[in-house]
Amino acid sequence: MTDTTARRAAPGVRSGPHRAYIVVLTLFLVDGLLQIALAGWGAFSDDKDAFEPHEANAAVLAALALLAVVLAAVAREGTRAIGACVVLLLVVSPVQMLLASLGDDAAFWGALHALVGLGALGLAGFLHGRAIKGERV
Ligand code: HEM
Repeated sequence: MTDTTARRAAPGVRSGPHRAYIVVLTLFLVDGLLQIALAGWGAFSDDKDAFEPHEANAAVLAALALLAVVLAAVAREGTRAIGACVVLLLVVSPVQMLLASLGDDAAFWGALHALVGLGALGLAGFLHGRAIKGERV
């Protein structure tokens, strides 16, 4: 058995927590796309409260990232997968809030906020792809 196959979960023995981990990452990806759409909504709307859905949805993303941390641990996805989910949680919650508030004074931080948001989706997509293949990160 090669090292690669040894690190792959045997077909048919995918656990419930592993499936739940994949479902939560899928929800995170879909909700992350919604988050980008809500940023566009806020930018193009005349309503002064137009960014509130974007801010509220950030809490949903944080909750999904927290769930991903717990499920990665329960499903024994490996230390690096758990660590990556913790990074996801830190990025969508305190880091994005900090960058958005810094962006009020300097547009550079606002631009970084948008890029980091896309990066978080990229990381979630990577974890999702590995989990679906049953491969460790
Ligand atoms: C994972 C993706 C993202 C998360 C978790 C996120 C989260 C947040 C949060 C929590 C706030 C409110 C900060 C505060 O209360 O001070 C915020 C504001 C903002 N976000 Fe995002 N964001 C994401 C992606 C994006 C993207 C891709 C864009 C732009 C293309 C964007 C544009 C903005 C803008 C312009 C504001 C400021 C709104 C205002 O001035 O009230 N965000 N974001």
